[in-house]
Amino acid sequence: MKKIIISAVAKNGVIGKNNGQLPWHISEEFRHFKLTTLGSPIIMGRKSFDALGKPLPKRENIVISRNNSLVYPFNDLKIFNSLRKAIVYCKEKLYEKVFVIGGGQIFVQAINEVDEMIISKLDFDAEGEIYFPSIDENKWEIIKRDKREKFEIFWYKRK
Ligand SMILES: NC(=O)c1ccc[n+]([C@@H]2O[C@H](COP(=O)([O-])OP(=O)(O)OC[C@H]3O[C@@H](n4cnc5c(N)ncnc54)[C@H](OP(=O)(O)O)[C@@H]3O)[C@@H](O)[C@H]2O)c1
Repeated sequence: MKKIIISAVAKNGVIGKNNGQLPWHISEEFRHFKLTTLGSPIIMGRKSFDALGKPLPKRENIVISRNNSLVYPFNDLKIFNSLRKAIVYCKEKLYEKVFVIGGGQIFVQAINEVDEMIISKLDFDAEGEIYFPSIDENKWEIIKRDKREKFEIFWYKRK
């Protein structure tokens, strides 16, 4: 099973605000995210899920939290208390790939676990306090790029 980070990152590395909001709205970037992740499980931190407010459709939504009594009013939501357990669950369900979709805390932990990353690099700086971790070029190679309006998508593979 392939483990893949997918994220949109501003020029200054910002991915979000402390209040959970994304500092931008780019429809084409959302479309790219949706098309890429549809049908696959998505793993996210509890804060990112709270910012979404509800599971994203047509994908198995998995939330990571240290709070073992966390409950949401959604039947179609899995909660695990570690990234490792969430990944094991996806492997056991025989998914071909799983996407780690954020946010900052989860990317820091997942960047050492995943096989690939799909990063939309935005053309502009953004205001926010949550950053994507630095990408070590000794560990990652760019295998594909796709320039869109306001952003460019980079596909990274672990060397
Ligand atoms: N641009 C992008 O691609 C993108 C994507 C997603 C999100 N975002 C943005 O990122 C921001 C949220 O990121 P964030 O860093 O604040 O939070 P986050 O990573 O979404 O969630 C953090 C939470 O995950 C849980 N967690 C973290 N590590 C854990 C571990 N080892 N074991 C168990 N649970 C663990 C904890 O939940 P508990 O507190 O419940 O224990 C923690 O509070 C928002 O602004 C959002 O809009 C941006």
